[in-house]
Amino acid sequence: MQCLDIRVIVDGKALTATVPVRLLLSDFLREQAGCGGLHVACGHGVCGACTVVLDDVPVRACLLLAVQADGAAVQTIASLPQLEGCEPERGLTPLQQSFRRYHALQCGYCTPGLLVATAKFLAGCPSPDRARILEHLNGHLCRCSGYANIIAAIEAVRA
Ligand code: FES
Ligand code: FES
Repeated sequence: MQCLDIRVIVDGKALTATVPVRLLLSDFLREQAGCGGLHVACGHGVCGACTVVLDDVPVRACLLLAVQADGAAVQTIASLPQLEGCEPERGLTPLQQSFRRYHALQCGYCTPGLLVATAKFLAGCPSPDRARILEHLNGHLCRCSGYANIIAAIEAVRA
């Protein structure tokens, strides 16, 4: 298979790699860039588990090719403090603390993508009402939490 060289900044670290042109960004991030916190569930753009921020825009890493990230900056769950704009307290950002306080996760499979997407959502919409939060959650499937606690956790950190 044809390969191409790419340069990408992943969680603040500059990387160069030679990747197959059909390699998914999600697979590149997990297998070559060491982003073990990035989860892949459905693998076809439905669940939101693989959400990362690509040049300031939330995207589904399973729907992009690694070569499409050439020259870009990617932020995964490891960049959550930067996405929330705060220093973690005892290792957890405010959003993570709120998810813990409100039991907004069980297996945690959806959680990294949900936290990344929610940090970007709140950065652009700091005081969302319930309807806006539900709209935001439309693109994120959680198979275990029932959503009520996720909503409560987000409401607790909004401005
Ligand atoms: S794993 Fe990418 S959207 Fe589900
Ligand atoms: S906590 Fe299990 S899928 Fe969301």
